This record gives sequence, C-alpha cells and structure tokens, in this order.
Amino acid sequence: MSDNKAKIKENFKDIDKKIIVLSNKGGVGKSAISINLAYYLAEAGYKIGLFDADLHGPSAVKAMGLEKETVKSDGEKIMPLQKGNLKVISMASFIESEDSPLIWRGPMKMKAIQQFAGDVKWGKLDFMIVDCPPGTGDEPLSVVQLFDGIDGGVVVTTPQDIALLDSRKAVNFLKELNVPILGVIENMSGFKCPHCNKNIDIFKEGGGKKAAARLYVEYLGKIPLDINVVESMDKGLDLFKEFPQTPAALQLNKIGKKIRESLKVILKENGK
Ligand SMILES: Nc1ncnc2c1ncn2[C@@H]1O[C@H](COP(=O)(O)OP(=O)(O)OP(=O)(O)O)[C@@H](O)[C@H]1O
Ligand SMILES: [Mg+2]
Repeated sequence: MSDNKAKIKENFKDIDKKIIVLSNKGGVGKSAISINLAYYLAEAGYKIGLFDADLHGPSAVKAMGLEKETVKSDGEKIMPLQKGNLKVISMASFIESEDSPLIWRGPMKMKAIQQFAGDVKWGKLDFMIVDCPPGTGDEPLSVVQLFDGIDGGVVVTTPQDIALLDSRKAVNFLKELNVPILGVIENMSGFKCPHCNKNIDIFKEGGGKKAAARLYVEYLGKIPLDINVVESMDKGLDLFKEFPQTPAALQLNKIGKKIRESLKVILKENGK
C-alpha cells in the first residue's frame, strides 16, 4: 500500500461507512441528495462527514450556509467545518472567490482529494458521504482508488428515457471498481401543482425505476421536484428542520431509511 493510502486508511480508521453519490449527467441533484441525506442521518443522531469531491463546482458549503466560515487547522490537521452532527469539507473554502475557476488537471485533483482524505481531522463518523461531480472522471476514480473501500454507491438520475443510458455508465463504473451498489434514485420526478394539487410529470416518470430494473440494481425511490429543495439549498437551510413535511423531505426520509438499514449502522446510544 502506498504511503498516501496508508495515511488515509489511518485517518479513516474511525469512520464506519462510506457512501459515494454519482451520476453521469450534470445537474440531476447529486449535491441536493448528498446534503439532504447528510442532514437526514445527522438528524437521526448519526455523526456525518460530507466530503465534497466536486472540485470545480463545489456546492456543499454554500448550500449548508457555511460559506462565510473559514477552515482552520489544529496545528497538525485541517479542521472540517461543522453544523451540528455534520462535518463538511469542500474546495469552496479554499478558493479565493466564488467566481474563481479551478484550473487543474487530473494529478492535481487527485492530490486535493488525497489531502481532503488524509489531512482533515474527520474523527469518529458513522457515515461519510462523498458528493461527486458529474461523470466518471478523475474525482470519483481518485476517491474509489484512494479510500480503503467504499461501502456503497448511490446513482442519481432523472426520470426521462435517457435515465437508462445515464445510469448505466455510473452503475458500470461502480461495478468495475467493485463498489457495492446501494441503488438508483430518480430525482425531479413529478411536481405537485400548488394551484390545482395535480401531479405533473415535467420530466416524464419512471426512468430511474426502469433503469434500476434493467441494470439489476435496487431502486431506492423517487424524489419530486420541490421548490423547498431549491429554497433550502439557496439559503443554506436544513430541509428537514425547515420543511419537514414537504414532498421531497418525505421521500428523502424513506430513501435515507433504506440506505441506513441496508448499511446496518446501529446507533449505540438509542439503538436506532
Ligand atoms: N428534487 C428537487 N426539486 C427541486 N429542485 C431540485 C431538486 N433536486 C435538485 N434540485 C435543484 O436543482 C439544481 C441542481 O441540483 P444539484 O446541484 O444538486 O445537482 P448536481 O447533480 O449536484 O449538479 P452538478 O452535476 O453540477 O454537481 C439545484 O438548484 C438544486 O437545488
Ligand atoms: Mg453537484
């Protein structure tokens, strides 16, 4: 094992389960799902780390309302930002301004991921959730290669016919790298009209479910288009605290429970 991998292994020794969230297409809701899954699990009492592996388009810090906070060091390691039970590290905390592009090639990206993994004081976590940029490029590959085992991969897609094509690449990426697949989530699935209460399938319906069946992986559920998802991310709010009864939060609850149960992480304090 390389020195870097050994260092990461040592730094991750108190992390119970690691989950990677990916998709082939951009803008399908990976970050929304990673962040809200993190909130859901933190709310349930778990200790969570959110690892924002999207180096070019980091969104976790702003979406959690932590963009004004600076990352500090304890003299030895970088301290992640923290919101309750939830720790987060993101490239957004290290770039000069929101407008500065990150112009890096593969090896530099791998180095950054190495540092987020090996040099950040993550401490004891029940779950680490890794939010990836779209596609199956340098960042998810570095994460899978550098981390000492990923316990589960979540593939996010939208409901259109293209979902199958989109999910296939992400699912095959996980299969080829021997990452156990937790399942496919169909996001932006349906929208309840606030005026007439009828459901409108803006991006059609069922693509994620069909893709999961065709690829022989679990279907974790669907999340509707919901203005409160956008609102909570734009304002840095916790969806479950602010809008617990909103349709997306209710669905995310079910999906979070499935993931929690399939990874069998028992909360010692209250047996949840
Ligand atoms: N279920 C939903 N209902 C309404 N808006 C949503 C939903 N899911 C995500 N969004 C919004 O859609 C936009 C894109 O979502 P998000 O940033 O999570 O996608 P992504 O897959 O992470 O994108 P990227 O590929 O750029 O990383 C955001 O503004 C987010 O708030
Ligand atoms: Mg994203």
